Amino acid sequence: RNGIVGKKLLSLHRLYSTQTCNYGICLDIDGVLIKGRKALPQAKKALSFLSGENVLQKKIPFLLLSNGGGMTEAKKAADLTRTIDFPISPQQLVLSHTPMQSLVSKYQESMVLVVGGTGDLCAEVAKSYGFKRVVIPEDVLRWEPSIWPLAPIMKEIAEAPRYDFSKEAIQVVMVLHDSYNCQYRWGRDIQIMLDVLQSKNGYIGTLTPETEEILHQIPLYFSNPDFIWSNEFPIPRFGQGAFRIAFESIYSEATGRKLKYELFGKPETSTYRYAERLLADQTYEIYKRRILPKHVYAVGDNPAADIAGANAHNWNSILVRTGVFEGKDNDAQFPADHVAQDVFEAVEYMFHQEE
Ligand code: G3P
Ligand code: MG
Repeated sequence: RNGIVGKKLLSLHRLYSTQTCNYGICLDIDGVLIKGRKALPQAKKALSFLSGENVLQKKIPFLLLSNGGGMTEAKKAADLTRTIDFPISPQQLVLSHTPMQSLVSKYQESMVLVVGGTGDLCAEVAKSYGFKRVVIPEDVLRWEPSIWPLAPIMKEIAEAPRYDFSKEAIQVVMVLHDSYNCQYRWGRDIQIMLDVLQSKNGYIGTLTPETEEILHQIPLYFSNPDFIWSNEFPIPRFGQGAFRIAFESIYSEATGRKLKYELFGKPETSTYRYAERLLADQTYEIYKRRILPKHVYAVGDNPAADIAGANAHNWNSILVRTGVFEGKDNDAQFPADHVAQDVFEAVEYMFHQEE
């Protein structure tokens, strides 16, 4: 008799609980789902589990929440779908710069210098958000190759310059990804950013007179605070945070002033508010009911970003040992609510907490 009642209760529970879900999960990408260009072994299994391959056949709203980026969400989703061999939609992605769409209303018509990434990919990101006048360091180098004498004259700057920066002022600087794709990028981008920030009103090649204290420095934004991140190399690599620290020190040495800037990315608040709204959208996608999640779980490998951010925003933090953090117990400085071996163990733990 109890068996029959038990079975009825379970099927009722299954019926109700498959009708909605008032919690969601955000998975970090680097060091949790992938390392460099390779998927981690449990990544596909974890994503399949969240997509219904679990004892309740229940779909759990989830996002990928990364301090990475450097390309549009559509491009990144296609990249990840290939790397992990699991379908990821752009609507499930919060990249470091995704919440920076909030800046468009303020700078839509301004000339924005976008730094980072490779080629035009970050310029494409900014234009996809709605910024209308976007330039990149290559444009500055085309205009005046002597601005960074160490740069070999490469094919991409052999083209005719598109701008004259002695006549067109740069009004905002946004770093949307790490400077990479060839060895001289950090130095070149630091030099050009310094030229803009110490210029008179954004005209490269001019200087703000020593006497005139800068009342308002040209606004500067960084999309990703990570000092380090985890790829295939056995020791974590420099992230955009290391680039920012190098720039801060050179800026102060060159101008005698403290650099002013605004940060986005984990652990900044704008990232978490943005993600909560997107999780509600995911709940609507699955259950046709838009519910702000009562609980949000965050799985990450970097205590200073993923765990610090989740803890500060009252999310449930789960630290995994497959990336930056490799300790036995928990992180001392940013202890997580739970520590798991890998992303699948983390997702199973969350499921058993909730179901
Ligand atoms: O540039 C990527 C790095 O900062 C880490 O990204 O996915 O671990 O937040 P993620
Ligand atoms: Mg990570």
